[in-house]
Amino acid sequence: MNVGDPIEQSALDRRWRLWASAAVGGILVVGAVIGMLVLPNFQRENAALDLWTAICRAVGITEGSPAYRQPITTAQALPVSQVAWDPDVLDILANANPQQGAQIAAQVCVACHGENGVSSVLEYPSLAGQSSAAIYKQLSDYRSGARVHELMTPYAAQLTVPQLASVSVYYGRFAQQATGLGGRDLPGDDYIVKLAREGDSARALPACDSCHVPGAGGPIETPVLTGQNLQYLAAQLRAYKTGDRQNDVYRRMRDISEKLTEQEIDGLARYYRGVLF
Ligand code: HEC
Ligand code: HEC
Repeated sequence: MNVGDPIEQSALDRRWRLWASAAVGGILVVGAVIGMLVLPNFQRENAALDLWTAICRAVGITEGSPAYRQPITTAQALPVSQVAWDPDVLDILANANPQQGAQIAAQVCVACHGENGVSSVLEYPSLAGQSSAAIYKQLSDYRSGARVHELMTPYAAQLTVPQLASVSVYYGRFAQQATGLGGRDLPGDDYIVKLAREGDSARALPACDSCHVPGAGGPIETPVLTGQNLQYLAAQLRAYKTGDRQNDVYRRMRDISEKLTEQEIDGLARYYRGVLF
């Protein structure tokens, strides 16, 4: 039938068009679900973001970072460190005013952290030997609420971001006043020394020194451990282990500390402080 042929042909085309459209639509939906829900949710779990922030980041709206672009109040506890090492933050540090930092230190910080960054109290961390970036990262986290401490939070919260940068640059200038023994070859526990220097591949524990020795290539905010106060080092490892401290980006230190035994924590703190075993 001459009349029927073209109709059947177009009906066939329509069916194919329908199927093709459905297939393309399906692929788009699956892609969107993976890209906007599955992957951000995965990232959320790993980086401890809330789902909304993760989705915003996935679609290119970088809500929640970097820290200084949004007003931050300590009343609102943030799930994760807001410090992002983008050029703006590095600029703030590069242009910080160490004289202003010295004034703030004299007024506020020296009582606990000393004039040269050597703390007066055993449990308080010394700042001498730390980079400005490491100090700034922690101050920003106290200020944003990503790291919480009853003494430090109010001091960090009362300063502006440029003031934090100034005081970080000021304290970042002091060389270490270590005992001189931390991280050195001491007669002692070979196993702990090996753990610090080489890690333990059987337990997927990386060498602490692969990040914590200056110049080793760790993240820019990695603090120097050598010479740090013993009680403080052990307390921080325990805080990461229990989850009391969770401002480490990508859970780096929480994942490591969870695998350490209590004896290893004490041993590593002694090793970096430079106390004989
Ligand atoms: C009343 C005592 C006190 C004062 C004043 C104080 N701090 Fe602290 N600071 C502490 C204690 C205690 C800690 C450890 C807190 C913790 O365990 O989270 C600390 C931690 C820090 C850290 C984190 C160190 C690290 O290795 O992670 C930095 C940085 C710091 N303080 C800088 C400052 C600066 C800058 C000031 C002045 C604006 C200041 N602090 C004022 C007691 C104080
Ligand atoms: C992959 C790099 C990496 C490795 C490996 C690593 N760390 Fe860390 N560590 C970091 C970073 C980055 C921080 C800062 C986290 C933050 O911002 O709070 C940190 C923080 C710490 C702190 C807190 C110091 C302070 O001043 O507050 C201690 C203590 C510590 N690490 C001990 C260790 C020990 C012990 C090991 C080995 C068992 C180790 N780390 C392995 C990167 C690393």
